[in-house]
Amino acid sequence: MKIDKTVMFEQAKAGGTPAQNFKEAEPPKAAAPRIRIEGLGFTYPGSGARPATNVLDGVTLSVREGEFVCLIGPSGCGKSSLITLVAGYAEQTTGTLLIDNKKIDGPGPERVMVFQSPSLFPWYTVRENIAFGMKLAANRARFAEPDVRVEELIRLVGLEGFGEHLPYELSGGMRQRVEIARALAVDPSILLMDEPFGALDALTRLTLQREMLHIWEATRKTILFVTHDIIEAVLLADTVVVFTPRPAKIREAMRIDLPRPRHRDSIEVAQVARRIADLLEVTL
Ligand SMILES: Nc1ncnc2c1ncn2[C@@H]1O[C@H](COP(=O)(O)OP(=O)(O)O)[C@@H](O)[C@H]1O
Ligand SMILES: [Mg+2]
Repeated sequence: MKIDKTVMFEQAKAGGTPAQNFKEAEPPKAAAPRIRIEGLGFTYPGSGARPATNVLDGVTLSVREGEFVCLIGPSGCGKSSLITLVAGYAEQTTGTLLIDNKKIDGPGPERVMVFQSPSLFPWYTVRENIAFGMKLAANRARFAEPDVRVEELIRLVGLEGFGEHLPYELSGGMRQRVEIARALAVDPSILLMDEPFGALDALTRLTLQREMLHIWEATRKTILFVTHDIIEAVLLADTVVVFTPRPAKIREAMRIDLPRPRHRDSIEVAQVARRIADLLEVTL
């Protein structure tokens, strides 16, 4: 597998033309957003004694190609609902949702969701689980050398030597690595991650946070990553989107310009984390 360098190349291209001697350099053109969400509203319909639940209210957000966006907000505010809409599993009630300027019309091969608890096939080995999506009829033609690609992914997520293991022979953290490799296997350009480390112990979580950055730097996927861990958001994201309680509105989309790797005990990280905690009205 060639890990996607085109995105970096496209980004470099989008950075604008070099200054020319005979005229003033034009300001760099901002790349068109990869995902555009405008005035998005979503309500789960009620039925009988169950009232309708309004979960998203006027959410407007643009996500650039290759951007790492963390979504954080009170439990039950509508974060999972939002990425479910971006995945195309449900349709919004109001507003607009565009990917590459096209209306989302159901799931698409450029978007893959990674859930909190791995949903691996228990009877398949690590290698077979990762290869599964590539072998589906719809994808077969896209991957000339699936075995080579699987090997590269196994290395990328740090599972060398475990290709022949079955899911029950792995730790929770390792299973989540397989899940991430399986999502990457079909080469989506957008990863939708719903609290992917939420079920892991604290130490494993720290390791996987570091590795997630490594994977993102190697692949430059566009990532929407739901978390309820403020420090995790500050360590990972280009932009942290802070939501209100349900129905979720964006309280603030905060750009984090700190260089990476960021250190959880640095003053800068603590300051941003404090600001997010204030917006969420919680104490750290
Ligand atoms: N399929 C559904 N039908 C009805 N209500 C739902 C459904 N899924 C989620 N909800 C409700 O929508 C609200 C937001 O849920 P969710 O998007 O999962 O929140 P979050 O991920 O931010 O914790 C919750 O109150 C939840 O009960
Ligand atoms: Mg959720």
